[in-house]
Amino acid sequence: MTSLSLIHRFVPASRPGRPPLLLLHGTGGDESDLLGLGQTVAPGAALLSPRGPVSENGMPRFFRRLAEGVFDEDDIRVRADQLAGFVAEARAEYGLPAPVAVGFSNGANIAAALLLLRPETLAGAVLLRAMRPLAVPPRPDLAGRPVLMLSGSLDPIASDATATALAGDLSAAGAAVEHRRLPAGHGLSQADVALARAWLDGAVPAAAA
Ligand code: MLT
Repeated sequence: MTSLSLIHRFVPASRPGRPPLLLLHGTGGDESDLLGLGQTVAPGAALLSPRGPVSENGMPRFFRRLAEGVFDEDDIRVRADQLAGFVAEARAEYGLPAPVAVGFSNGANIAAALLLLRPETLAGAVLLRAMRPLAVPPRPDLAGRPVLMLSGSLDPIASDATATALAGDLSAAGAAVEHRRLPAGHGLSQADVALARAWLDGAVPAAAA
């Protein structure tokens, strides 16, 4: 790959007219983790998949945390800017429109932070097992921006309270949020894949990008 500011993988589109996906892995993942998921939920879309630049005992993440579920919000702000800068570089390098984020766990949390802090970066987002990243969120203009949140009702990490709070933050900013709760834990299920694919087929017109 070219030497942009984050280690990443890029898969060019094989089918025109679909917005690219920005794939954001969970804690301990890397830039290869979600390529298969991306190909399944949006066949033929361009895939941009960075590695989280923070290391937690060798496990890549997209921002620092102080403990499980306790986030370093100053670092979230710095890392959201860093990721927004990377996306801008990649768009110029690869000739891409604004991507739709597909983020899992820590990747969903930085995607939510991007929507709130750098809303110009994303055309929409699929947030898988997301938590509220900022206790006092800004209120950007996300008018009509499509967001699918898929939460697990048995998730011991991303509670219903934090997911519901995030859905409220995004809705208050005007995003078109669809929040669904699945009978699942923190891990992804086939239902996540099917719902994400159907939503990406319908909710995100190519023109949105
Ligand atoms: C986070 O730290 O972003 C969340 O706790 C999810 C995780 O990565 O475990």
